[in-house]
Amino acid sequence: MASAIIQGLLRQGAAAPDTIAVVEPWQEARDQLRTRFGILAQSAPGPFLARAGTVVWAVKPQTFKDAAVPVAAHTGSALHLSVAAGIPSDSIARWLGNEQVVRAMPNTPALIGKGITALYARAGIDALQKQGVEQIIRSTGDLLWVDSEDQLDAVTALSGSGPAYVFYLPRSHDRGRPANGPDPRAVLPAWPWATFAGASELARSLGRPARRCCASASRPRAAPRYAAIASMEQDNLKNAFMRALQAARHRARELGDEFGS
Ligand SMILES: NC(=O)c1ccc[n+]([C@@H]2O[C@H](COP(=O)([O-])OP(=O)(O)OC[C@H]3O[C@@H](n4cnc5c(N)ncnc54)[C@H](OP(=O)(O)O)[C@@H]3O)[C@@H](O)[C@H]2O)c1
Repeated sequence: MASAIIQGLLRQGAAAPDTIAVVEPWQEARDQLRTRFGILAQSAPGPFLARAGTVVWAVKPQTFKDAAVPVAAHTGSALHLSVAAGIPSDSIARWLGNEQVVRAMPNTPALIGKGITALYARAGIDALQKQGVEQIIRSTGDLLWVDSEDQLDAVTALSGSGPAYVFYLPRSHDRGRPANGPDPRAVLPAWPWATFAGASELARSLGRPARRCCASASRPRAAPRYAAIASMEQDNLKNAFMRALQAARHRARELGDEFGS
């Protein structure tokens, strides 16, 4: 996630490499960051952080607290932008002794500038600070602000984890390979992705909700796709998917309970 943000900022010219500093404990990753982006990469927090206007937190939820405590002494009045799933802004503010916290829930298409990120600002974050955050996040794709922190757990389940669901379906396609005749994937390995990308772009350009796209895609009854949708309905896949989303949302809350104390 950190790489996605750095890459987006540099690609869009929103920041110069010498204005970005990263704390990365692993030497190999530090060397890669320096070579790939030309940015400053340090093994531990230190006085250099005092220059930071915004600190982006892209560590795993389980390492957040350990990473935050030694940073607090160096960051003064910086704004803290966390992309960590589940960790409540109350905890972040407490660990850092700073109320200037914004939480973001991005997703991995951010790596190619096609992410979608939900943002939540703590009280006291002003319009100018929000604009600064938007400039950072917009370099990775679209964004929207939510006004309740709880909504971020739902976003974690929907779009934050969403790419994993999109990868899951072609995995099932793999099992359903044709017994006879040419396999389209042998000719075009990107075939499942082309199907997803094309369908998504079509739906987006029509500006229709999924419900309507699905309804028109499953007509007429004589069509092969109708038989497929009817079979999925019979297997109650919609409910299975709803349960999957609830599981992801529940896990996001658990992360906060486990690692946000
Ligand atoms: N991946 C997703 O789909 C996704 C989507 C939305 C949100 N997120 C959130 O994004 C955050 C980062 O996830 P990721 O997928 O980018 O994980 P990641 O690739 O493992 O990145 C975490 C980075 O933090 C570094 N790190 C560990 N301890 C540190 C410390 N004390 N100080 C500074 N850096 C430290 C790690 O270094 P080492 O490798 O050396 O440990 C690693 O480079 C998570 O909180 C996750 O919830 C991820």
